[in-house]
Amino acid sequence: MNSLKRLLALGTLFVSSLHAFSTTDDSGFCFVADAISYNNGLLQVLNQQKLPAEEEWIVVQTPQEMVEIIRSLKVRGAPMIGISACFSLAQLASQGASIDEIEEAAILLKSSRPTAVNLANNVDTVLEAMRNGSDPSIDVVEAAKQIFYEDIELCNAIGHAGAKLVQPNERILTCCNTGSLATAGIGTAIGVIKIAHRQGKNIHVYACETRPLLQGGRLTAWEMEKNKIPYTLICDNMAACLMKAGKIDRVLVGADRIATNGDFANKIGTYSLAVLAYHHNIPFHVVAPYTTIDPNCPSGDAIVIEQRAAKEVRGASGSFGSVIWSPVNAPTFNPAFDVTPAELVTSYIFDKGNVEAVLIPYMVQ
Ligand code: MRU
Repeated sequence: MNSLKRLLALGTLFVSSLHAFSTTDDSGFCFVADAISYNNGLLQVLNQQKLPAEEEWIVVQTPQEMVEIIRSLKVRGAPMIGISACFSLAQLASQGASIDEIEEAAILLKSSRPTAVNLANNVDTVLEAMRNGSDPSIDVVEAAKQIFYEDIELCNAIGHAGAKLVQPNERILTCCNTGSLATAGIGTAIGVIKIAHRQGKNIHVYACETRPLLQGGRLTAWEMEKNKIPYTLICDNMAACLMKAGKIDRVLVGADRIATNGDFANKIGTYSLAVLAYHHNIPFHVVAPYTTIDPNCPSGDAIVIEQRAAKEVRGASGSFGSVIWSPVNAPTFNPAFDVTPAELVTSYIFDKGNVEAVLIPYMVQ
């Protein structure tokens, strides 16, 4: 069921952004985005592992369940991971949990994925609101609500800032999924693509499939179809020959953590695209909200990279079933992210605008 249908099913009225919806009723708050909905303690997430074959919504009842959902990438994307963790805490608080129980759940949630800074930052924001407030059942829900709304606004601002750079008829390469499945709003890199498309710029998207977990092949392709944006799906190793043939005008990627010097972590394969773009003299932009900047991280060397299970490299699994194509015990290397040095980045498209690396410390609010 898409967001609008879910919203109508909840008997709600008010549309707050291009892709995410929210409303209030007599009994409390309800938030609905493409990948999450929270309605007075009823928390549901779209199972992104089953996309695009099936749109299955999972009812989440405990922070422990949310941790498993985040670790297995049923929920993923830096902003959406943080938002999901906050709504899990909001649910716990609304059930009357004590401050100690909420603090304990927060530690668990923060440990679920290490690289994206949004998770730890958002959870800390909620905890601070709770510690400074008087009633966790109100303060935690209110803080989660603010984070949700802020992300929608940040995505819209990023989308418009980035679309200014996009020229008519551009062919844009992107990787992983940075759209409304990864955020509460229209997305970051994909948000720019959506706005440029709506502005009638006649763009064409090249989506890297993004091995090993295929966020590009499954999720970005799904979002392109939903938004009727012309696209071509490619295997990751096809980007170089497209660039050499002069078929890519711009590269837009998201980020999971941006160091103050401009180095940034993003989905594995991003560094290769940056090197290729640099070699072919193609503009390469990092597209992210200010919330992805880590003011305590001076350079990419300090970013912890999540290592994932061997089975993801030995084969694949999803709505299409499970397969292992390598020898069953093949030794593997499976970092979920890589770090791209700032020197390969043309510019950073933030909610406050398009800037060079030297201005990153000033983008943090
Ligand atoms: O492992 P994932 O799917 O959570 O990785 C997602 C990415 O790397 C995205 O590019 C990043 O989180 C930005 S999402 C707006």
